[in-house]
Amino acid sequence: MALGLFVLGHGHNVGAWRSSPSPAADLLGLDYYRTLAQEAERGGLDMVFFAEILYSYELAGRHQGAMAFPTLDPMVLIPALSRLTEHIGFVGTYSTTYTDPRATALKLATIDRLNGGRTGWNIVTTGADQSAANFSRRDLPEREARYARAAEFVAEVGSLWDRWPATPQGRPVRVQAGMSPFGKAFAADVAEVMFTVARDRDTAIAFRRELRDLVRGAGRDPDGVRVMPGIAPILGGTEAEAREKEARYLELLHPAIQLAMLGDQFGMDFSGYALDAPLPMDDISQSPRVLSGMRDPDKLIDASCGVPTLGDYLRSQARVRAHHSFVGTPEQLADQLCDWHSAGACDGFNLMFPVQAEGVPAFVDQVVPILRRRGRVRSGYEAKSLRGHLGLPAATGNA
Ligand SMILES: Cc1cc2nc3c(=O)[nH]c(=O)nc-3n(C[C@H](O)[C@H](O)[C@H](O)COP(=O)(O)O)c2cc1C
Repeated sequence: MALGLFVLGHGHNVGAWRSSPSPAADLLGLDYYRTLAQEAERGGLDMVFFAEILYSYELAGRHQGAMAFPTLDPMVLIPALSRLTEHIGFVGTYSTTYTDPRATALKLATIDRLNGGRTGWNIVTTGADQSAANFSRRDLPEREARYARAAEFVAEVGSLWDRWPATPQGRPVRVQAGMSPFGKAFAADVAEVMFTVARDRDTAIAFRRELRDLVRGAGRDPDGVRVMPGIAPILGGTEAEAREKEARYLELLHPAIQLAMLGDQFGMDFSGYALDAPLPMDDISQSPRVLSGMRDPDKLIDASCGVPTLGDYLRSQARVRAHHSFVGTPEQLADQLCDWHSAGACDGFNLMFPVQAEGVPAFVDQVVPILRRRGRVRSGYEAKSLRGHLGLPAATGNA
């Protein structure tokens, strides 16, 4: 099965930075990322993935929490990490809305040549409207227009790569992560890896089947696409220990920062609301981002439990946002990963540890050996390139 490590700040729990004695030094230096990448390589993972955040979380002129740290540019970080590792691939996110195709094509091809074909490009259209002002734009273009530009952008990058000497893996691996109808149509045309959000196994099976049909409909071989849902594991020697760790991670949360981040998502100030009262749906439905159609307030409501309290909602978000979470023993996690993989729910997983400094070595020491015994994860790298690790066909042309 394909495995990627999704590195985001200190981890996918928004309070993860509070587990480190030196959060700023970690995120703005090389050592922290080097340790994570080398650990992932020790575990035989296919790749390390970096997101792109083109604005910092800010409300009323104040920056809130670790998510406000400037993230290092993957295009600069990846070459540095490539020198400190030998085999593992690296996927960097670059927006097609806010970058230039020629500059992106040249930089990605350069990195892919220099690191021996270990590069992938997560092609995103950037859904956050706060980014627009950083690029001297008033508004974020509509989703349809963003994906139309993305299609042109990728075609142009492809034709530039055609005029370049091939990289050691032909060309960088194309990754896509948008799941709207436009996102899926785009993925059908261009994606070789698709990062997804999957709530449960059945939804994941249905999504993968649909995507494979779309890929076939676009004239491509569905076996040339790896669907990788996110999963956020919390491990313990026993189930009880894993639950204790989950509780400890929830303690890391700082409600003021979470409220600020929620405010940032909706363009409204939540600081005056009580945490033990239900989410203020009337006010939320009038918030700028709901009125502009960017956010769907119904997504805040749990189909079975109704409107959660503000505190409950923040706790559920803190865990891993909408991604699938797992709490249990290494054996149980290995069982679940193998079960999803065998059932056709996915081709692999994008690992999103709530606290990376703890989660990555635990996974490598405790889960990878089980997956190796079961023949699901390599013991040593046989291929040289990211395309080779993923078992993807050689890249030719734009599709
Ligand atoms: C695992 C994962 C990683 C993502 N990383 C980024 C990112 O780094 N930058 C970004 O702008 N969007 C990122 N996205 C958002 C998607 O590109 C996409 O915009 C979002 O899922 C909404 O889908 P849609 O654009 O089809 O509506 C990511 C999504 C997923 C599932």
